[in-house]
Amino acid sequence: MLRAIRWAAWGGVAVLGLLLLATTGDWLVTDGPLGTGRVATGPASLAIGGPFRLTDHRGRAVTEQDFRGRPMAIFFGFTHCPDVCPTTLGDMTNFIAALDTAAERVHWVFVSVDAERDTPQTMADYLSAFDPRIVGLSGSEAQISDVARAFRVYYRKVPLEGGGYTMDHSASVFLLDAEGRFAGALDYKEGQDVALEKLRMLASRG
Ligand code: NI
Repeated sequence: MLRAIRWAAWGGVAVLGLLLLATTGDWLVTDGPLGTGRVATGPASLAIGGPFRLTDHRGRAVTEQDFRGRPMAIFFGFTHCPDVCPTTLGDMTNFIAALDTAAERVHWVFVSVDAERDTPQTMADYLSAFDPRIVGLSGSEAQISDVARAFRVYYRKVPLEGGGYTMDHSASVFLLDAEGRFAGALDYKEGQDVALEKLRMLASRG
């Protein structure tokens, strides 16, 4: 009886492990120990990133080609976001300051998933509170759906009680190399020193 329970317990652990692998497999970013000069790199088959057509916060039409030639740190959110987006943009602003001149070798990009409210002007106003090197991209529902699919980003409009809505969205910052290939990710609330080291490595590739 005791043995059966023990086996059942181990079975449960094994199943849980497999489930974890299944759900997080895409996001297992292999990462060398700090200071060894290895950059966080995903498997070559990991297709994150792709073509897009959007408008930057200065009203200029852009595609992914405008961001080639330098590595890119890109994340998705919306200007009405109460928490995750301002925190991530604040972190990004601090990272840019810490990287100093190396920050110039990276494209810093914030893409809105809120087609209804986030116009280029809204993005420009919102981004004025953060480092001016961060580029805000917005677009139509179809354009946002395309870019989100290319980056495998989840987002969803959620109605609020009493009117209005908020947006659920993935919080990772994706890192792409100068050719637009996936080169890792920063997770929300990841240690700042780890994130900064990943960004240093990314910048050194550019
Ligand atoms: Ni957000």
